[in-house]
This record gives sequence, C-alpha cells and structure tokens, in this order.
Amino acid sequence: MLRTHTCGELRIENKDSEVVLCGWVQRVRDKGSMVWVDLRDRYGITQLMFEPNDNQALAETIRSVGREFVLKATGKVIERVSKNDKIGTGDIEILVTEVEILNPAKLPPFLIEDETDGGDELRMKYRYLDLRRNVVRQNLELRHRVAIEARNYLDKQRFIEVETPVLIKSTPEGARDFVVPSRMNPGEFYALPQSPQTFKQLLMVSGFDRYYQIVKCFRDEDLRADRQPEFTQIDCEMSFVTQEDILNTFEGLVRHLFKVVKQIDLPTLTRMTYADAMTYYGNDKPDIRFEMKFVELNELTQGKGFVVFDSAPLVVGINATGCASYTRKQIDELTEWVKRPQIGAKGLVYIKAEEDGTFKSSVDKFYTQQDLQAIGNKFNAKAGDLILILSGETNKVRKQLSELRLEMGTRLGLRDKDKFSAHWVVDFPLLEFNEEENRWFAMHHPFTSPKPEDIVHLDAGNLGEVRANAYDMVINGVEVGGGSIRIHDRVLQAKMFGILGFSDEEAKHQFGFLMDAFEYGAPPHGGLAFGFDRLCSLFGGSDSIRDFIAFPKNNSGRDVMIDAPSTIDQKQLKELSIAVSKS
Ligand code: AMO
Repeated sequence: MLRTHTCGELRIENKDSEVVLCGWVQRVRDKGSMVWVDLRDRYGITQLMFEPNDNQALAETIRSVGREFVLKATGKVIERVSKNDKIGTGDIEILVTEVEILNPAKLPPFLIEDETDGGDELRMKYRYLDLRRNVVRQNLELRHRVAIEARNYLDKQRFIEVETPVLIKSTPEGARDFVVPSRMNPGEFYALPQSPQTFKQLLMVSGFDRYYQIVKCFRDEDLRADRQPEFTQIDCEMSFVTQEDILNTFEGLVRHLFKVVKQIDLPTLTRMTYADAMTYYGNDKPDIRFEMKFVELNELTQGKGFVVFDSAPLVVGINATGCASYTRKQIDELTEWVKRPQIGAKGLVYIKAEEDGTFKSSVDKFYTQQDLQAIGNKFNAKAGDLILILSGETNKVRKQLSELRLEMGTRLGLRDKDKFSAHWVVDFPLLEFNEEENRWFAMHHPFTSPKPEDIVHLDAGNLGEVRANAYDMVINGVEVGGGSIRIHDRVLQAKMFGILGFSDEEAKHQFGFLMDAFEYGAPPHGGLAFGFDRLCSLFGGSDSIRDFIAFPKNNSGRDVMIDAPSTIDQKQLKELSIAVSKS
C-alpha cells in the first residue's frame, strides 16, 4: 500500500505515530509561515500542516499544489491547537516532513463540496468529479448497503441468484424495447430485457424454487424523476406459493432493509384494494402518510340547479383541514393550479367551514347552509376546514383530485421524507381497455393469473370485471415493487394471449418457448420485482433516482459524459446489415 492510513481514521490515540496518507487536496490555506492542506479520500478529511520555513524543497512543492491534486504525505500525528468537532479527525493534524505530488489536477469545473456551484448538466458531464462529493458518494454507499442486505435476507430464505441473458427477445412489459442488431443474423435484432420475466418463470419450471437477481432492465419510455431507461430491479420468483406467501416474504425483505439500513421498525404493511385506492385516493399508489381521503358527493349535490355538478359523472372532494383561513388570492392561485394543462381541471369549488359554524362557498347561489352543512358532515369538517371539490368524468377527475391532494399534502407539510408509510395495493384489474388502440391490454403483464373466482367474468366476456392476483408495494406514494401469481396452465395462457389480440401463430412465435415449457410440469408460481433505484432513493430521502445511480442518463436519455447515444460509422452499419445512407 502507498499509505499507512486513510484520511478518515486517525484520532488523538494515534498521536506521535509516523504515518503516510494519500488523497485529493480539498483546500489549501497559506499563512506564510504555515501552510495547511485538507486532504480528502473516500473515508474523510485529514488536515496536513507544513512549516515551509524549515524545509525549502517542501515549501516549493506545497506552494505548487492546487485543488484536487493527488498527494502522498508523510509525517507525524500531532494534537491540533484549534480542534474541529465537525469531523472525526478533528483533534489531530499531520506535521508533514515529506510530500509527493502523485498527480497534478486541472481546476475542476465546479466546487467539489457538499454545497456545489455546478448545475445538473455540468455535474453529469463530469460525473466522476461529482462522485467525489460526499453527498453523492454516500448515496452509492447506501445503494451498496441495500444490495448487500437484500442479498443477505434472500440468501437466508434460500433464494439463489441466477443471471439471465441480456440479449433476448422482446418481453411484453408495456414499454418499448431497446434493440440490438445481430451481425451474424442479418436483418435480425435482439431486444434488451424490460425485465427477466419469462426467464424467471422458466427457472421455476426448472425446479429452482426460489430465484432472485439484482438485475439491469431496459425500457424505452418517457423519463421522469423516478424513471431511467436502464434501471435495476431486485427480481424474485417462488414456486408452490400463494399470493399471501409472497406478500409475507417480501414484506419481510422490506422490513429487514428498513431495520438494518435505516434502523426503523416498519409497522406491518396494511393492504388496500385497487378499487379502494382509486375511490379514496384517485391513485393506484396512494401516499398514505396523510389522510385527506376523497369523499364522493354526487348524492348531495344533484338537483340543486348547479349544472356543472348535475352533469358530472363524479363530484368529489377533499378536506384540507385548517385551511379555511386561505385568502381569496390563495384560493384563486389554487384554482389556477388545478387548471394548468398538466392537471386539466375546469375549475375548483370550495366550501369554508367558518369559525362561527356557518359555511361559505363559491357555490352559495345554489346551495343552502343546510346543503353545505350536509356536505361538511360527510367530510367531518370542523370550524377552520376548507373543502375542495372537483367534478367531471370519473377517471379524469380522480386523477386531478389526486394531484391536488398531493399538492395540499406537500403545502401542509404532511409528506415528511423521514416518515415512512408502506402498504400493499392488491386486486388489480387483470385487463385495461385502451381506447386509442381499441383493445384490451394486460394491466401488469400477460403472464398474470386472474383470481380464480373471477374466471367466470373472463368466460362471460366481462373483461373489465376480472381481478388479477397482482399486487404492488407502495411506500410514500412511490410504487417500489410489483408482481403477481402467474398463469402456469398452457390452456389459460393461450386464452390470455387470445384476449390480448395475439393470433395463435403470433403467440406461438413470440412465446412458444414458454407455452411449451408449461407442458413439461410447470409448478404454480409467482413473484415480484422491486425497483432497486427507487428503494434506494426513498431510503436516501430523495425524489430522484438519478442521485442513486453512478452514471445516470439525463431526461433525454443521454449520457452526456460519454456522449451516448451516438452515430456509428458506415462500415459498422454495413456489417450489421443496416441501410447505409448515400452521403
Ligand atoms: P414492473 O414493470 O411493475 O414489474 O416493474 C417492477 C418495479 O420496477 C420499477 N421500475 C422502474 N424503476 C426505474 N425506472 C423505470 N423505468 C422503471 N420501471 C419500473 C418500479 C416497479 O414497481 N416483471 C415484473 C415483475 C413481476 O411481475 O414479478 C415487472 O417488471 O419500482
């Protein structure tokens, strides 16, 4: 080793030891007769002290050093005169007798400090420098810990990690595939896996019983703070289990991770049906850190002459407790907020529960005090509360009110990042109808089994009524994982492909291997996959998964550091049998 210690480990007990440290220069302070250098590595910062007057060569070297130079310093541990209780090494410093510049450095384009002056794009371009910053490095250390602990838990539960291929055939997970041309098979393409779904099911047919993999998945979809084109799953599958077994096993995993990584005893996860999630929160991944449940008001608002409510399939509201003091201006601003194209509401109706027991609303013309009181009662409104109501087409209005609920939760400080509320959403519909394509799609994926008691609806053609053995885990309004009990019967799987619009030939062409496998003794099986990046960002208290990925893509799917994607030369295109342009 070039060094005897790291920059984070020396303490007062090491006083008088001769040590060698290596690291990067964080800061230089030159006071003439003394020069101090803060030397940084992954483990911490140690202060180096030079007395240039005693040693001319040393003085010259140290005065040539700038930020981010890589140094090797030899010296003696001494007690500091002015101690720094903010860092572990703050009681000591190194009186340097010898210094070697291992490598000089250009001035970095932004400050390598916790509070940096670099913007997002600049830091992405120089990600290797950004990764030197404590905050970013700590995120990756957290990621490492979560991975290790997930492996520990799963290993103890007798799961084995199996790697599945990356060059595969398209898996229908609902997003677009990234494809890779095959040189050896002109005109043919591999697809990168959107998930290892079919492979993990085949491993169950092979008798592996319990599989997991911390695995890269690729999806060509629009990017958001919680979506990257390549992301990582903790992907799991089990044989001979019921939905209940799966929920318990993976609730166990998440509770273990909270315990060891965050020192938090997560309470038992509650369960909510998809139908309730939509009715009470307008969202299949409700943030239940706060209440503010939806209350449907059609019965109370109909027939009073207010056409907007009379003509709406759904009139629904929330109680923003304690917000009756909102001024006209604040309510106007909230109304504009819901009318923004991103939300798309036509307007916002409010009812204030005044301190004197009366109600004041934006629809006083149509509703009497008694009517308003009845509405107030449905919300359990107390003096000082503000009821906010939207109306319109059911699905749309639920979505809009869900956004408003989250916004009010944020404004009222009810979405504390250090508070965790985890639950399952169960009983998802098996299928959803896509108006644009005029056909049914699998809500989870085509391998998800219907609830046995709902197969009658499937047979009767009431496709919207069929519920699936599918579940999502939601933490603080983030879908951190999802899965299902699979179909393991060839006939039912073929039927499912038929419902999804595959001809027999297409189904055979795309999934023949799976259907064949089901004829060789497929055990009942099911599983789920966690979004590993999302879990890490939740643990780290950030909304953006990028912060927890070493080399992420930007919002246009670009890696601005290596400049990918990029064009490839004509020769390479030709080898891949991809049309070569004339120019
Ligand atoms: P699903 O598509 O629900 O299920 O994905 C599982 C989890 O992966 C995370 N996730 C993402 N994270 C970051 N960026 C993305 N683009 C992205 N897409 C998904 C989410 C999600 O809950 N094969 C099934 C699992 C199964 O049925 O076992 C699957 O992939 O947290």
